[in-house]
Amino acid sequence: MGKAFCSFCGKSQANVRRLVSSPSTDCYICDTCVEICREILNDNNLPKKMDCLSLPTPIEIKEQLDEYIVGQDNAKRAMAVAVYNHYKRLNYNLGRNAKQKSIELDKSNILLIGPTGVGKTLIAKTLARILKVPFVCVDATTLTEAGYVGDDVESALAKLLANADYDVTKAEMGIVYIDEIDKIAKKLDLRNQTRDVSGEGVQQSLLKILEGTVVQVPQNTRKSPHQETISMDTSNILFICGGAFVRLENIIENRCARSAVGFNQNEIVTEKHNYRYIENVQPNDLVEFGLIPEFVGRLPVVVGLSALDKQSMINILTKPKNNLVDQYKTFFKLDGVELDLQQNAISAIAQKALDLGMGARGLRTIMEEAMLDAMYSTPSKQDLQKVTIDENCIMKKAEPKFIFKQKEKAQKNIQKN
Ligand SMILES: Nc1ncnc2c1ncn2[C@@H]1O[C@H](COP(=O)(O)OP(=O)(O)OP(=O)(O)O)[C@@H](O)[C@H]1O
Ligand SMILES: [Mg+2]
Repeated sequence: MGKAFCSFCGKSQANVRRLVSSPSTDCYICDTCVEICREILNDNNLPKKMDCLSLPTPIEIKEQLDEYIVGQDNAKRAMAVAVYNHYKRLNYNLGRNAKQKSIELDKSNILLIGPTGVGKTLIAKTLARILKVPFVCVDATTLTEAGYVGDDVESALAKLLANADYDVTKAEMGIVYIDEIDKIAKKLDLRNQTRDVSGEGVQQSLLKILEGTVVQVPQNTRKSPHQETISMDTSNILFICGGAFVRLENIIENRCARSAVGFNQNEIVTEKHNYRYIENVQPNDLVEFGLIPEFVGRLPVVVGLSALDKQSMINILTKPKNNLVDQYKTFFKLDGVELDLQQNAISAIAQKALDLGMGARGLRTIMEEAMLDAMYSTPSKQDLQKVTIDENCIMKKAEPKFIFKQKEKAQKNIQKN
């Protein structure tokens, strides 16, 4: 035992307090390494037997989605069913014992397609909250093939693990939302008729993970400075990919036009007008867009979201829990002032956002701009009771109307203006 040293840290027997030898092989571990291992084991929540999730029904899921997401009924229904089936399959596979191996249910990852700012990310986030499972949202554009600078695909799973408080069992039932998936499509270079392959490598590195594999995920816990990896099985993780797929509409349109050759021309024209492109998407269209066939094959559920109209914009401003109008009212209330945002002002904000073409994302920008004057002067106005904002304030940048608690002061203010 003279030359014995710790097989973990390499210190020799002389430099450690205790060295424990293995009963079967010719190796040793020192007291410090035993202590570190003990901490790691305590920290990691070793895989427990998975508990079955109690599942809301698709109708219940849809009702809860309704509280946060305006419109997009088809998408909400499709997502509710897809998610319900995913977790039903999970419960079924967990509950199965060795004797009942008859049918293994495969998983169905989801592809969300819709214009920018119409609720793709919001639906995915809200679902995770409803189901109380760990959720992570990653951006496909920051993902790189293993070995290149940037986040590799494993780091997305590391984030999921962190969101599950390093509980591997929980993380393995989570949802990963990969945003901007259309940006890793291969791009066709029209001048040279060659394909640029930058995105293809990322698609390939996602294949195994989408399908279900055991991945070594880097894990940096606060307690231990050592870079450790932890095995994570992705076969029960639900992957939702989302993207705007801007040129997809033309691809579907062209295909339909091609296949309609020989039909009555009038029919094609009427069809074109109320065409709901995404509902007609076929795997080949996505391949033509630049996704590789293996990738498309791993996203069997395709859900389309539609562009928002003016009424939906108005509803988004006023209806969901935590809507923007209520948020601003609360801001003013904290200063003891009532905010009266008139109906025609709300309608004008919706119209402006619609013109911006950024979906509901534009609402906040316009709202911020519209409220700036009022928010700037309100805190320094004494005895202010109410601020009224109407259409003119939004469209023509007119001053908001300030109403004061005492009449004389209000009158003075009007004279000043
Ligand atoms: N249908 C909707 N109901 C309620 N709020 C919505 C809806 N659509 C969008 N919003 C609002 O707009 C914001 C942006 O939406 P979201 O992040 O879901 O867009 P997206 O579809 O993922 O767009 P992108 O393709 O640009 O990522 C949300 O945080 C939400 O406040
Ligand atoms: Mg998004």
